[in-house]
Amino acid sequence: MSLMLRNAKIYTGLSHNGEILCDQSIFIEGDKISRLVHNSALAPYREKLKKCENDHDHDLRGMNIAPGFIDLQVNGGGGSMFTSDTSVKSIRRIVNAHSKRGTTNMLLSLISPDNATIAEAVKATKEYALSYGNSVLGIHLEGPFITLEKRGIHPKENIRSMNDEDLKIILDAKETIRIVTVSPESVSNEQIKSLKDAGIVVSIGHSNATYCKAFESFIHGVSCATHLYNAMSGISAREPGVIGAVLDCNKDASIIVDGIHVSYPLVRMAKKILRDKLFLVSDAMPVVGGKTMSFKIGTEEVIYDLAGCETKEGVIGGSAISMRDAVKGCIEKAGMETAEAIRMATSYPARVLGEGTIGVIREGSIANMVIFDDSFNIKAVVLSGVYRKI
Ligand SMILES: [Fe+2]
Repeated sequence: MSLMLRNAKIYTGLSHNGEILCDQSIFIEGDKISRLVHNSALAPYREKLKKCENDHDHDLRGMNIAPGFIDLQVNGGGGSMFTSDTSVKSIRRIVNAHSKRGTTNMLLSLISPDNATIAEAVKATKEYALSYGNSVLGIHLEGPFITLEKRGIHPKENIRSMNDEDLKIILDAKETIRIVTVSPESVSNEQIKSLKDAGIVVSIGHSNATYCKAFESFIHGVSCATHLYNAMSGISAREPGVIGAVLDCNKDASIIVDGIHVSYPLVRMAKKILRDKLFLVSDAMPVVGGKTMSFKIGTEEVIYDLAGCETKEGVIGGSAISMRDAVKGCIEKAGMETAEAIRMATSYPARVLGEGTIGVIREGSIANMVIFDDSFNIKAVVLSGVYRKI
């Protein structure tokens, strides 16, 4: 099956040499981008398309194309919460809700689960990949090896220090568990090193560490920070905390740009310091693409309204946005260039995860793309070479 996408502005996700292409079209064969063709040389390709019934030639009438968004922290969507329902059916609902919003690849988050839930989630994620392809890249294990004082909405009964058995469970699932969020207070330097050596991204989060403790964890393999500014020790005059350590040491860092978790001036400040190290996550909850107005994390109820997702006590419990909303927020509220905001949702998270074939539009990449108008309304997505109108 082949597909031609023409007459569009292409945001490639690249930082140099062709970040935006206006004079080229995308020719897709199977699930890959086969050629970027100059518009003056389209005729032979369009001729080729006419010969097969399943081929499609799309005139996008001046709309925009970008690589599909890559979200490394999805708690839920379409009414489903992954931590409470790890079934393949639940994963399908979550993926469907987010793919309608332009996210073509994601990590599903587990919020401080017990070990039985980890095992079920790993099994279901593998089954999903076998049946439905590569949209779920794996699991982001967020906790339970975090600090009680910075737990946010995480169930306190599960929070603990990592032991040998916990480490073994994670290492045995290293193909599926791609990111672990830990606090350095709850894991040893040797455990951090083992996780990193296994190819798992170790991210600092839900941590009350000092600058020195955070710095020490970086030396042993922590390379990333989870939802910068939220649930981590802050900056004061004589103690830079986790936030200061991440900014000073130029670590990769995710950020939730929903206008609720972090103020826009702080998004801009982080951007000035971290540049291409700062990337977007949604931290989305079941309310994204779902009808539900409340959900549970452990025993605590989280209510969704105009103030976002919060408990009755006002503790934030995830977000109600998709990656599309985060990109829009970066452009319209934080004042970023469109191409840069798109890279924060595509090529930067792909690099963090070491995924070389997604997150950019170039020859040989997997054909995962999002098509949107100038107001950022999603009009279509391309998933592994299959065009789906929204
Ligand atoms: Fe969190």
